[in-house]
Amino acid sequence: MAQNSWTPQSWQQKPARQMPEYPDQAALDRVLSQLRTHPPLVFAGEARNLQDALGQVAAGKAFLLQGGDCAESFAEFHPDKIRDTFRVLLQMAVVLTFAAGVPVVKVGRIAGQFSKPRSDDFETQGDVTLPSYRGDNINAIEFTPEARIPDPQRLLMGVAQSAATLNLLRAFAQGGYADLHNVHRWMLGFIADSPASEKYEGLAQRISETLEFMAACGVTSDSVPQLRGTDFYTSHEALHLPFEQAMTRVDSTSGDWYDTSAHMLWIGDRTRQLDGAHVEFMRGVKNPIGLKCGPSLEPDDLLRLIATLNSANIPGRLTLIARFGSDKIADKLPPLIRAVKREGASVVWSSDPMHGNTIKLQSGYKTRPVDRILEEVKQFFAIHRAEGTHAGGVHFEMTGENVTECLGGAQGLKEVDLVDRYQTACDPRLNASQALELAFLIAQGIRDERMKDAGLAASA
Ligand code: PEP
Ligand code: CO
Repeated sequence: MAQNSWTPQSWQQKPARQMPEYPDQAALDRVLSQLRTHPPLVFAGEARNLQDALGQVAAGKAFLLQGGDCAESFAEFHPDKIRDTFRVLLQMAVVLTFAAGVPVVKVGRIAGQFSKPRSDDFETQGDVTLPSYRGDNINAIEFTPEARIPDPQRLLMGVAQSAATLNLLRAFAQGGYADLHNVHRWMLGFIADSPASEKYEGLAQRISETLEFMAACGVTSDSVPQLRGTDFYTSHEALHLPFEQAMTRVDSTSGDWYDTSAHMLWIGDRTRQLDGAHVEFMRGVKNPIGLKCGPSLEPDDLLRLIATLNSANIPGRLTLIARFGSDKIADKLPPLIRAVKREGASVVWSSDPMHGNTIKLQSGYKTRPVDRILEEVKQFFAIHRAEGTHAGGVHFEMTGENVTECLGGAQGLKEVDLVDRYQTACDPRLNASQALELAFLIAQGIRDERMKDAGLAASA
């Protein structure tokens, strides 16, 4: 039966959406054979550690924070960008850890997020129509016929950039940069500079007091090495199946297949067909995986996908990433949660409040209002509370840079401001201050809920 006959190439027997068409198959094959002997970017044991950590999220004992660029780009490759995104994610994680009172599992959309699904195969500007940009792994963003031709050499550039990015992230995570006291200092700097600083001061003050109390008790980075470093994982959409197949190896310690291009991989909303190639590929690799759940996903289909992707019902194996839009989540999410619960399936529920809240302005800019993003996350938490399930995490498109791509936030970004620093290679991202603000607002919500649950008055 098909269920049993998985191989790294069995996806090739199924219809694959969103695949680039290379003009020179032999050139692609040469690159893929080089990739097959490329050192793995991650070690299977790390992917298992992430799965265990996500198992804690599934059990309601931890929280998932996943975030990064919509699409990484070759042109934007710079150590400062990697550092800044990492730094904001850590700041968000500290705020959320304190609020939720549980560990936060940190996963970047980074070190491999180079392939993009597109709603349209073609893009028109004026009276010129060209194939769409599909991410730097495939073609170039410039609007010329040459730039848009898929070039397999880009896969090698992507893997080189991923390796260098991951190397720096590992150094930051374990080399002392990620020390909790550093992260807290950065946060105080952010608050001092924020136009809405009074909103965050209460929480930040409590964190400061906690750190002082810990230090007074002898709990410092010197005495507790865990405070000096952190675990940080990578993820991307497993869209480009020839590439993912080439990076898939048998783990010598377990005999299982792992896609070594990232710790976690997800299936996008456009490629989650039950009988499609992406689901086929992902059911056989043992990494923790994500599944984007958009408005067209019906409960029965979700249950079939869960049965295929996590037949052994392993906690932490499957993260369902809800991305409905603030206007649809109230209708769409509860039936899915109920079906999953009825089935007894162990999943992590995470909220991607970005992809259902994209609007196109008259000026041509794609943007996302921060208010709607926050509204979707709030509803996500409220729905889980009503259903008695764990709102396990959030998934943001964000950057550590001061870009102007999403509207609103404490800086009050308006339509006219978008032109200033609209730099994304794909979808609009939260900038550093918007991302951290959201973390504070979510944290406050989580804390108020916890206080209510504990029978205490909601904190101011
Ligand atoms: C994405 O995460 O960048 C993306 C394309 O999401 P979705 O598949 O949910 O549309
Ligand atoms: Co996106």
